[in-house]
Order: sequence, then C-alpha cells, then structure tokens
Amino acid sequence: MSTITRLPLNNGVEMPALGFGVFQTPPDETRAAVDTALKTGYRHIDTAAAYGNERQVGEAVAASGLDRAEVFLETKIWISDYGYDQTLHGYVKSAGKLGVEEIDLLILHQALPSEFDKTLEAYRALETLYSDGRVRAIGVSNFMVEHLVALLDKATVVPAVNQIEVHPYFAQPEVQAFGAQHGILTQAWSPIGGITFYRDSGHTSTLQDPVIGDIATKHGRSPAQVMLRWHLQQGRSAIPKSTNPQRIAENFAVFDFRLTDDELAAIDGLDTGRRGGPEPADITLANFGRPIPEA
Ligand code: A2P
Repeated sequence: MSTITRLPLNNGVEMPALGFGVFQTPPDETRAAVDTALKTGYRHIDTAAAYGNERQVGEAVAASGLDRAEVFLETKIWISDYGYDQTLHGYVKSAGKLGVEEIDLLILHQALPSEFDKTLEAYRALETLYSDGRVRAIGVSNFMVEHLVALLDKATVVPAVNQIEVHPYFAQPEVQAFGAQHGILTQAWSPIGGITFYRDSGHTSTLQDPVIGDIATKHGRSPAQVMLRWHLQQGRSAIPKSTNPQRIAENFAVFDFRLTDDELAAIDGLDTGRRGGPEPADITLANFGRPIPEA
C-alpha cells in the first residue's frame, strides 16, 4: 500500500491529509463504511455532532483493533451548542458518543455571523478543551475571511484547520490564501464536488467535467482520483465521502501518481466562484438550529 501524506498542523500535531468523510452517511450504514475505510488504510475520519453518526464512527474504530493513537478522529460542534458552557458540554456529548477520552481535532461547524459573540464563546471553550488536553487540536469550518479576521482578533489559539467547500468548481482561493498566511490549514469538504452543483455550461458534476476527464484518461485514473491529487498536491486536506467499498478504495489509491503543474493549473481554471453548499453568511439558529441529542 502506498503511504498516506501527513500534514503538520500549526501546533506540530500531524494529521493524515486524506480523511474519510461521513456527511450524509446514514447511521445504519456508517459502521460498515468506516470499517471498510479503516481496512482500506484510511487513518482519519471526519464526522460531526450534526451528522448523527458519531456513535457508529466510534464503534467502527473500537472494533477495528487499531490502536486509538493510529486513527485521527475529527468532529464538529453544532451551532445549537454554541456558548462557553454549552460547547464544553458539546465536547462531552461528542467524546461520549465516539467513546474516546481525547478528540484529535474538534472544530466549530459554522460561524454564526449574526451572533458572533456566541461563536467566540464557543471557540473559547475549544481553547479551554485544548489547554486541558482533551483535544489535540482545534479549528473551524465554513469560516470566511471576515469571520477568521474577527476570530483571530480575540483568539489565543490560532485555529489549526478551516474546513470549507473546495472542489474544482468552487475553490475559494481568497479563504485559502488567508488561511495559508496565518497557519490555518484548509481542509476541503465535498472535495470531488459531490454536492449537487449546476453551472451554465450544462455540466452537472465535476465528475463529468471534460478537462478533469481528459487528465484522468492520460493518467489511467478516475476523475475522483484526479481531484483528490489536486487537493493533495496543493497542500490541502480532503475528506471524500462514500458508502461504496469500491469507491472508498478508489479514493484512497491516490498516493502513487502525480499531476503536472499544467494539469493543476487547468483544474484551477475550472473555478466558477459559485458555491454548492449553504452561504455561510446566512447561517442562523433560526434557520439551521436543532438540538444535538445527549446520547
Ligand atoms: P457514494 O457514497 O455512493 O460513493 P463529496 O465527498 O465530494 O461530497 O462526494 C461524495 C459523493 O460522491 C457521494 O454521493 C458519493 O456517493 C460519490 N462518490 C464518492 N466517491 C466517488 C467516486 N470515486 N466516483 C464517483 N462518485 C463518488
């Protein structure tokens, strides 16, 4: 098996660059998917309190027989648990469901732009969990540059990671550049553009894009593998989701070929500037809030 690239976070902790995503993986399929991923060689699982499948992720990791230290576990606090005490309790809920004492990377799932004080309080709780040794690294997700600026103004710990939508049709170069300047690693969600995405050219999916398809043909690889190489060669973490064993394996077989600079640039050129996921500025408790169960 080829070797997984590991990325150093800004506090020296190392994270496997390629993780396994379980967004929208139903709880009753999560254990099998994570089990397959761990057998395939993935050593980084990305879940979230809001996904409702932390328990099944924890069960698969526990059943794998792997040492806890071998698997990098990342999860996210949902906006309904923001606030200092609430977020501390959010950690207790997530760690309990995952069945672990220590979470490798705990991040805020979204900024709450209209209640940013609450977001800051939630982040302060992450800082406490970090200094208490209950999480190895902390970070954020879906933070735009203005949210990062406002956070850095108050934070004592620079986020290690900002997990944002990045795929060839929506690459957010300005958020990535700001992160790079401040030691915040960009992690790509929907890295192969699985999020429903339409554009004027008539292409409905990055998986059918002719530029990506041509590069894939040249290398004898799949479009998904080409997109994952694009992330890895540009220094990003990526967390492709799949419940299909063949595609889980396909997405991991990306450490034994390289794209050329011209190929990377051609993929960069596909950015439409149009996001597939929700607009971060529109996230409110009224729209997106929902309670995270205790157990
Ligand atoms: P499935 O779970 O049936 O494999 P993303 O992580 O970019 O959001 O993409 C996830 C979506 O892409 C899911 O619908 C997943 O479906 C599908 N998918 C995952 N891996 C591949 C692949 N290698 N080729 C095609 N589709 C894939």
